[in-house]
Amino acid sequence: MDAGSSSAHEAVGPPSFGEARGRRQKARAAGLDPDYWYAVAYDKAVAPGRSVEVRFWDRSIALYRGRDGVLRALENRCAHRQLALTLGEVTGCHLTCTYHGWTYDGDGRVVHYAHDLFGRPRPEVRIRSYPVTSRYGLIWIFPGDPRLAGQRGVPHLPELDGGSAWTRMDLSYDWSAHHSVVLENFNDLAHEYLHRKYQAFWDARLADHASSGDTVRTRYHVSIGNKPVVGWILRHVQLKAEVIEMTYDYPYQLTEVGDRIRFRAFFLPTSPTTTRVFIVLSCQLTSFHCGPVRFGVPRPLARALTGVSRSVLLDRVFSQDGAAVTWEQSGYEAHHDAPSLELNPSMALFQDLIIRKWADTLSRPPVRTPRNGRAPTPETDSGR
Ligand code: FES
Ligand SMILES: [Fe+2]
Repeated sequence: MDAGSSSAHEAVGPPSFGEARGRRQKARAAGLDPDYWYAVAYDKAVAPGRSVEVRFWDRSIALYRGRDGVLRALENRCAHRQLALTLGEVTGCHLTCTYHGWTYDGDGRVVHYAHDLFGRPRPEVRIRSYPVTSRYGLIWIFPGDPRLAGQRGVPHLPELDGGSAWTRMDLSYDWSAHHSVVLENFNDLAHEYLHRKYQAFWDARLADHASSGDTVRTRYHVSIGNKPVVGWILRHVQLKAEVIEMTYDYPYQLTEVGDRIRFRAFFLPTSPTTTRVFIVLSCQLTSFHCGPVRFGVPRPLARALTGVSRSVLLDRVFSQDGAAVTWEQSGYEAHHDAPSLELNPSMALFQDLIIRKWADTLSRPPVRTPRNGRAPTPETDSGR
């Protein structure tokens, strides 16, 4: 096998999905299906009266919370001169453009013009709005066909429900890499070498990998927690972590370490080369063992232990992952024609799923984004 890269296309840049040759090029050009709910921000990050820009595959969306506390999401452009609405201000339950003061309601209709209409009738103007909701401390947007938003629920996280909810920790990152590069980082434990300094896990052996419908499941046998602090915690709370099971239920990632630690990862493809990742880590810490003595673990102690794990291990490990996927992305952009020398057989399952779902997305009716300020219809505006 020739592992060298060709030089003929190096200056050209990676191919589009339609032009891509081979599985890896296709996967690296694929978007994510907009007909799902995507986590875009933390609930607490958008206070009443605030707006923030969020992005889905290069689409800019103005997310704001009215003074009434209700979240709303609009296409982030004023229909008048195309300024970003997030430059403006929240006025009551509406969002007002900063330039001439056109005011949009949560459905995207202009409900007030802050200037003379020059004797013309009041124009009926509407931009696109998006279904938006809040759950598990995250704000979710449905960028696709709004008619499907009710059928496709926000993912259910049973470990966070009710009075016996597990101890939770949130981590979030903006990484300069395509979402498939990030997905592969989460699911390919062959990269234990990257974390050799921390020995987050080592000796990973792929035990199973299978694909069914829109789901890929993999299972690894691993050793975990070799370093003093984390190893001490794992031993004393008797967390067994010899098996890591991963379920990618498109487009959501679940990693289960033993039966009492779960990582959920929600990937937001902000652009073809950048991804925001929300990680919800939860663990069930019920008892602490000191020799033969066993204590119940009160919630504050559980939170303190997960906090320690975060600062001594998780933040550092994910920072290494962020650097690695960024390097991989720039490596791919420079050498996209180099042969893909992938040894892990499960990687093909993830790439095939990403490719198939994006091909399905593109096969649906074409999108007509409103350019003249008139309201989109569900039939013509499927959100791609
Ligand atoms: S550009 Fe927004 S009101 Fe004129
Ligand atoms: Fe990693």
